[in-house]
Amino acid sequence: MTGPGASPAASAAARDCALLPVEEKHVEPDPPEKTLKRTDYCGRIDRKRLGQTITVCGWVHRRRDHGGVIFIDLRDREGLVQIVCDPDRAATFAVAEKLRHEFVIAATGLVRPRPEGTVNADLASGEIEILAHDIEILNPSVTPPFQLDDENLSETVRLTHRVIDLRRPVMQRNLMLRHRASMAARHYLDANGFVDVETPVLYISTPEGAREFLVPSRINHGQFYALPQSPQLFKQLLMMAGFDRYYQIVKCFRDEDLRADRQLEFTQIDVETSFLDEVEIRQLMEGLVVALFKEAMGVDLPQPFPVMTYADAMRDYGSDKPDLRVPLKLTELTDLMRAVDFKVFRTAAELPNGRVAALCLPGGASLTRKEIDDLPAFVAIYGAKGLAYIKVNDASKPNEEGLQSPIVKFLSGDVLREIISRTGASSGDLIFFCADREKIVCDALGALRAKLGHNRGLAQAGWHPLWVVDFPMFEYNDETASWGARHHPFTAPKDGHENLFESDPGAALAKAYDVVLNGWEIGGGSVRIHRQDVQAKVFGALKMSPEDQRRKFGFLLDALAQGAPPHGGIAFGLDRLVALMAGVEQIRDVIAFPKTQRGQDLLIDTPSPVTEQQLRDLHIRVRTSGHAKDA
Ligand code: AMO
Ligand code: AMP
Repeated sequence: MTGPGASPAASAAARDCALLPVEEKHVEPDPPEKTLKRTDYCGRIDRKRLGQTITVCGWVHRRRDHGGVIFIDLRDREGLVQIVCDPDRAATFAVAEKLRHEFVIAATGLVRPRPEGTVNADLASGEIEILAHDIEILNPSVTPPFQLDDENLSETVRLTHRVIDLRRPVMQRNLMLRHRASMAARHYLDANGFVDVETPVLYISTPEGAREFLVPSRINHGQFYALPQSPQLFKQLLMMAGFDRYYQIVKCFRDEDLRADRQLEFTQIDVETSFLDEVEIRQLMEGLVVALFKEAMGVDLPQPFPVMTYADAMRDYGSDKPDLRVPLKLTELTDLMRAVDFKVFRTAAELPNGRVAALCLPGGASLTRKEIDDLPAFVAIYGAKGLAYIKVNDASKPNEEGLQSPIVKFLSGDVLREIISRTGASSGDLIFFCADREKIVCDALGALRAKLGHNRGLAQAGWHPLWVVDFPMFEYNDETASWGARHHPFTAPKDGHENLFESDPGAALAKAYDVVLNGWEIGGGSVRIHRQDVQAKVFGALKMSPEDQRRKFGFLLDALAQGAPPHGGIAFGLDRLVALMAGVEQIRDVIAFPKTQRGQDLLIDTPSPVTEQQLRDLHIRVRTSGHAKDA
């Protein structure tokens, strides 16, 4: 820099330099200017370009030497194109000979039809090829850590070399799809009057269910921010501030155990509205999901989405996110089993929170002994202590003759007849039974239903969206022996249900709803409490003292008393939506830089230690031992 902003020393050096006699100047030659300017994306060239001279830029995907002719598959984000190098053009051919995997090049040439028999119907550019006139190496590459078309890469290899992994066409497609999905959401929300407002990432600790990430404050000794589990309270405050309709495509942070559909940081399409009731909010948000699938994928979701209560979902599917592609339902047997001699079933049926239920698998009698014997281990994951079964050899003989099972001898003829009748079992079916606490039975048979439905080819194709509504307000936590909010404590109870808080908290229902698609919870929300007295009552039901309420949520209670409109909203998991659209099983495959199961980013190698000085600045000392005890 020699302009007015340059330092005196730099200017002096520049003057000295200029004073040197020309012949003594030691000047490295400038690298040649890049001469080839891109005219087209590789993957977009088709017959329309025939006969034209064009320039493409990209990565060498493959190079094949075919006895004197060199073929290069050049790749960019839009796809591949084949470049042909003839030895006639010696200089260009010499460059082509040097090319290796992942070199970045620019190439100019003539678009011509591929010779008969070499058309590649899988490529958009499969009918043409480029006869190279000129090739320029923009940057060579060391040998990449793996072949991009290797189908058997481990997650560790992929995440360690994420830059290369992201070059794979499937990952490029996934992230482009993600872009289209979030643009579709923006279009829909903008068209419907929603305003994008950013909310803070340095936030306070709130009781939304997940463990939080804390951020130490340097300026305020010993104090911490929390990263938001969601912008829940800010979006409510924005309604109280009069913005009427808010949205944000926003990062949320939850320090949870990671699973296929969970990350520590993930993205929500977060929405809040004023003056709409539960049904109106659901209609508007159903429109969002429909628009997303239409715009990003060209898919028409079946409408209207069916609406199912939480109670019905648990009764029929054992899950609050049933995969409706699987047509099987559970059968309720608790009442029937209260009167049987078989102790395993009767004991569970008599528990206040016990359940006995069955799952009838059509054609299941063809399961092998080994297949059946493996299933108790599967349901044990969910806490089930056993999985009884009855093989229905002849449904017209509901006794030891027609039914094959270790438990038939414990059940009377009437009970067996009733089981066959309730399950609707036919000859050749297999009926599974689970008896335990309700939660265990639901989890175990719910998971078994989905597993067997898919494994046995019973699942239907296509998209099966669903609203689940009327969730309980509270759920009992056995570990802490206390009631917690099922959604979050800002959720409004169904009208009149606040009267149940004291007498029967488990029976109080909430104006809360989830959207489920093919067995994934893709969104959840609620109508919020907009009256201060009701909010205080819910905090009270959660055993928060008035002092605690003031200390933690004084700002909310005050705002509720200062003209808070009725409001409600929802948040969709963008990662899950896009994973479903892309047909992948892990949300990691639709996130550019995800964390591993152990919460690590293998590419940038984090989390990682920091220096003693950094810790000092934050007034933090790391305990080196005994953290199991401290936890
Ligand atoms: P909720 O906690 O149900 O609601 O979250 C909304 C949606 O976010 C997605 N999601 C996740 N996706 C990936 N990884 C995670 N760890 C993860 N956790 C949640 C799910 C879920 O349906 N503030 C409320 C919304 C509201 O009431 O408006 C909330 O956050 O798809
Ligand atoms: P047992 O009398 O313990 O040998 O159990 C008889 C049958 O009942 C076996 O097939 C067990 O798998 C099954 N069983 C045991 N406990 C349960 C349970 N809680 N629910 C369903 N089946 C069970």
